[in-house]
Amino acid sequence: MATLEPISERNVWAFKTARLQALQDSPGAFGSTYAEESRFSDAEWLRRAANMSGERGIGFLAMDGELPCGIIGAFLSEHEPGIAQIVSMWVAPGYRRSGVGTALIDAIRSWSRTRGVHTLRLMVTSHNHAAMKFYERNGFTMTGKTEPYPNDPLIIEYEMAQCIPAEESHEVDPSSRSS
Ligand SMILES: CC(C)(COP(=O)(O)OP(=O)(O)OC[C@H]1O[C@@H](n2cnc3c(N)ncnc32)[C@H](O)[C@@H]1OP(=O)(O)O)[C@@H](O)C(=O)NCCC(=O)NCCS
Repeated sequence: MATLEPISERNVWAFKTARLQALQDSPGAFGSTYAEESRFSDAEWLRRAANMSGERGIGFLAMDGELPCGIIGAFLSEHEPGIAQIVSMWVAPGYRRSGVGTALIDAIRSWSRTRGVHTLRLMVTSHNHAAMKFYERNGFTMTGKTEPYPNDPLIIEYEMAQCIPAEESHEVDPSSRSS
């Protein structure tokens, strides 16, 4: 059973382990590559972990005890207020189809509500049908926007998005108050 932990400098080495495993396991799913990130210095991993617990970003690890088994990150758009981009979504093969990915998305939705985010966006590669099904199941739809995929000219990336409803109002109807 997985539990979620926010990513920070405190669990940076578990974050590194999970991220490198994700890049090896699913090379066509991400904009970056194992070859690129396996060369990162410790300082770079620490910088990335700090960004995922900073002003503009958040990240979560799914943990099975001491073992990382999933990741998600999200960053507020620099230029478009109210927009956040999901990155690095991954669940380890042995943990798939048991709700870990959905729990990670739910954690980002909760964060979004505290940060005034009205729209979550992400990019998914055109051959990644499993991820598209997963995102559709979790309320994302295609926006129609596409981009070239930097690691393979035969693949493109589709943008998907979902609206985040504002926090429910907790105002009490004055007429229902007892005196
Ligand atoms: C996509 C991914 C994150 C899904 O994680 P997960 O933990 O398996 O997802 P969940 O268990 O929460 O799945 C929720 C629902 O999404 C859909 N879904 C998930 N994986 C699916 C698949 N392989 N095929 C079809 N539907 C799928 C199902 O409706 C599922 O519900 P069900 O299991 O009751 O049928 C995981 O498969 C993964 O890490 N893939 C490799 C990396 C990747 O592609 N990342 C996305 C980068 S954009």
